[in-house]
Amino acid sequence: MIRTDAQRLWGSLMDLATIGATPKGGVRRLALTEADRQGRDLFVRWAREAGLAVRWDAVGNIFARREGTQAVPPVMMGSHLDSQPSGGKFDGAYGVMAGLEVLRTLNERRIATRAPLEVASWTNEEGSRFAPGMAGSGVFTGVHRVEEIHESKDPEGVTFGEALKAIGYAGAGRPHPVGAYFEAHIEQGPVLEDTRTTIGVVQGALGQRWFDIVVTGQDAHAGPTPMELRKDALIGASRLVLEVNRIAREYPDYARATVGFMQVRPNSRNVVPGEVRTTVDMRNASDKTLLLMRQDLEKSADAIAAECRVAIEVREIVHFPPCEFAPALVDAVRRAAKSLGLSHRDIVSGAGHDAVYLARVAPTAMVFVPCEGGISHNEIENARPEDLAAGCDVLLQAVLESAGI
Ligand code: GLV
Ligand code: MN
Ligand code: MN
Repeated sequence: MIRTDAQRLWGSLMDLATIGATPKGGVRRLALTEADRQGRDLFVRWAREAGLAVRWDAVGNIFARREGTQAVPPVMMGSHLDSQPSGGKFDGAYGVMAGLEVLRTLNERRIATRAPLEVASWTNEEGSRFAPGMAGSGVFTGVHRVEEIHESKDPEGVTFGEALKAIGYAGAGRPHPVGAYFEAHIEQGPVLEDTRTTIGVVQGALGQRWFDIVVTGQDAHAGPTPMELRKDALIGASRLVLEVNRIAREYPDYARATVGFMQVRPNSRNVVPGEVRTTVDMRNASDKTLLLMRQDLEKSADAIAAECRVAIEVREIVHFPPCEFAPALVDAVRRAAKSLGLSHRDIVSGAGHDAVYLARVAPTAMVFVPCEGGISHNEIENARPEDLAAGCDVLLQAVLESAGI
């Protein structure tokens, strides 16, 4: 059974991690920044050196292609090269580098596949600088229109379209058919490590709802304005944060809810805050429960607005239901792990992935590997070279089975 090159995979990940490197060993490669451009340039260079045909589309998704012996839709691998503001070296980067490593291995062994193979690097998976996340894969799969994504703005008011042009990755072309999609990723949670398991056979992912929230009160002087006469937007927002936390704790089906962003205006020590912009990220394994959580959020916002004498606007900007991956491909991942003699278990993804959208247009599956302490979206995110290599070997086997030789 052929294996990928563990050292080459690790070396590529470490080289890539020098771009946007942060003091604690992580990366900051926010979507469509100069660091993102450098990460893309390196991937494109490596892909071309591997003899792959590289192109990018209107939202900057990059596709690196190895021809097959038949003119059928490609079997695709991929993930993302953008990161959180204080992200880790492996979230996303692993899936792209693992895809490249699979193709390098096949080149080295001169193995031709029936179906063409492609590695995709999807634009703005994280959704940190520009919302929504999974933007590139969302356009590719018809979830979002190109224009809608181009118009989205970062907190400084720069549009996605401007930023994409500025880094030189505004391409053209329409989405193409995909025969099957595989994404390798670190688990980003503790289950595999806790159970001493090397491979997570991913069954699907939690559904999500994202909200943009604006709390509007009135700027006022911190001295003369009596407490009972204030319209303090930050008090309203703070109470909402606690309600969001309560909601996640009260609902079943793996409910999660997070407030991770807040802008206070005018953000001055002696001014009662007149406006707060904040976000809510809600997740659940049941779409029905996810809707109940949303309704609870809206009711809570109305109650807080009345009590705090502020206005609260709650705008939903993302909703996707829980997703189930294709049983045949999930089986292929399980079989690959088994035939490689690797410990494996079924697992559900709490994180969103480009695979969630790809699953709408092609049979899709994911391969998870453990990460240290289950920690991710953190500079200290870490994974073991041997686990990353094992996941890459599973990816290779599953892709070969799908593409045919
Ligand atoms: C992607 O990183 C997510 O928010 O799950
Ligand atoms: Mn990711
Ligand atoms: Mn992420």
